[in-house]
Amino acid sequence: MRITVNLVMINQTITQKVFENTEAFAKQLDNADDLKSYRNRFFIPQNNGNDVVYFTGNSLGLQPKTTKSYIEQELNDWATFGVEGHFLAKNPWLSYHELLTEKMANIVGALPSETIMMNQLTVNLHLLMVSFYRPTKQRYKILCEAKAFPSDQYALQSQVQFHGFNVDDAIIEIMPRKGEYVINDEDIYTAIEKHKDELALIMIGGVNYFTGQVFDMKAITEAGHKVGAIVGFDLAHAAGNLQLELHNWNVDFAAWCSYKYLNAGPGSVAGAFVHEKHHKSTNLPMFAGWWGHNKQTRFLMHKTFEPIESAERWQLSNAPVLSMAACQASLDIFAEVGMKKLILKSKNLTAFLEFVIEQININKNNCLQIITPKQNRGCQISIVANGYGKPLYNKLIENGVIPDWREPNVIRCAPVPLYNSFFDVYRLGKLLDELL
Ligand SMILES: Cc1ncc(COP(=O)(O)O)c(C=O)c1O
Repeated sequence: MRITVNLVMINQTITQKVFENTEAFAKQLDNADDLKSYRNRFFIPQNNGNDVVYFTGNSLGLQPKTTKSYIEQELNDWATFGVEGHFLAKNPWLSYHELLTEKMANIVGALPSETIMMNQLTVNLHLLMVSFYRPTKQRYKILCEAKAFPSDQYALQSQVQFHGFNVDDAIIEIMPRKGEYVINDEDIYTAIEKHKDELALIMIGGVNYFTGQVFDMKAITEAGHKVGAIVGFDLAHAAGNLQLELHNWNVDFAAWCSYKYLNAGPGSVAGAFVHEKHHKSTNLPMFAGWWGHNKQTRFLMHKTFEPIESAERWQLSNAPVLSMAACQASLDIFAEVGMKKLILKSKNLTAFLEFVIEQININKNNCLQIITPKQNRGCQISIVANGYGKPLYNKLIENGVIPDWREPNVIRCAPVPLYNSFFDVYRLGKLLDELL
C-alpha cells in the first residue's frame, strides 16, 4: 500500500505502521519536512562527488556554512583593534561569552543565570565536582552508570582518590542485568535506596554514549535528593539532542561539550549548568579565577575573590573568543529552529531508521540487533551486527556512509535532525541490505 505523506503528518509523530522502506517514500518524507532547508546550511562531507551519509553528529557535528564568517569577524576585529577589541570589537570580547548564554540556556532548559560556556567538558566536570562532591567519612560514595565514557570514569576515580577514598569502595556502578545491554531504571533507584546513608553524589550521563540509553534525569534527581545526595549529569550526548529541563528538574549541576550535537567544531568551548539555588551559597568550596569575580570590581585587581552570584562564578579565565564564535554560529541556528521542532523531526527520523533496520532484518536472519531502548532514546541507535562486526563498519565507510564504531562491538548511527534526511536513512538501509 502506498501512503501519501503530507505536511500534517511530518509535523506529528509518525508511527512506524505507515513507513515504507523505499526511495520514493523517504523522499516524500523529506519533501514534507519543515526543516529540510537546514541541511543546506551545513557543509556535508563528500565521497566521490556525492554527499556522504553522515550519521556521526553524536561524535562531531557538521560545520555550519556561517561558522567561517563568525570567526572572521573576530579575526578582523583583532587585526583592526588589537587589545582594544575587548571593548571596540563588534562583539566586545570582554563580555563575549554572554552572547552565548541565553541561547545555550534555552537548549538545556535552564535560566541564563544557571548557564555558562567555558573550558572543556572534563575540565568542567572536575570544577563542578570540586564544589559538589564534598565527601564526609559517612557520606562519600558516588553512584554512576557502568561503562560511562572513560573520561567520566577517570574524573570520578581521581576525585575519589583526591579525597583519600578507595575507588572500588566509593564508586557504585550500576550495571545492566545479566545478558542485557541497557540498565534497568529500577536498579538505579534500588541502589540509591540501598546506599542512602553513604551517597554523596550521583553523576550519570544523560545519554549513555555506547548504548544511546536516555536516563530519566527528573526521576533520578528526585530519588537522589530524597536521600540527601547531590545530582549531576554529563550531557555530552544530550545537549541539542533531547528536550532538557535542567532547572525544572532541580538538577544540581551538569556539563556538556559543544562539538557533538551543538556543531561548534572540534574541541570547542564546553557548557556548564549550576542550579540557581547554589549561586549564593557561601560555604561552597571552589577553584576560583578572575572571570568568576564580580564584574564591577574585577579590574580593580583586589586580592579578595568576590564571586558572581550566577553560574559565571565557576568561570576561571577570559573567554576563548575564536572557539566561542564557532559555537555562536551554531547556537544561532538552534535559536532559529527551536528544540521543539528538532525533537519532533528527530523522533520521526530515528523511528524511520529503526523501521528500515527491522525491514532488513526480516531477510537477514535478524543479524542487526538494536540495543538502544525504544522508549528511552534520543536520535542515536546503537547496533550490534552479529557475525559481522567491524568489517561491516569498514565497508560502510568505504561506501560513503559514516556511522561510528565503539569497541568492542557497536556501530552507532545518529541521524541528526538539523542536517540528516530521511533519504540518508534509506541510503544506509540499502547499503546494509547489499553488504549483509
Ligand atoms: C560522555 C562523554 N564524556 C566526556 C567526554 C570527554 O570530553 P572532553 O574531551 O571534551 O573533555 C566525551 C567525549 O566524547 C563524552 O562523550
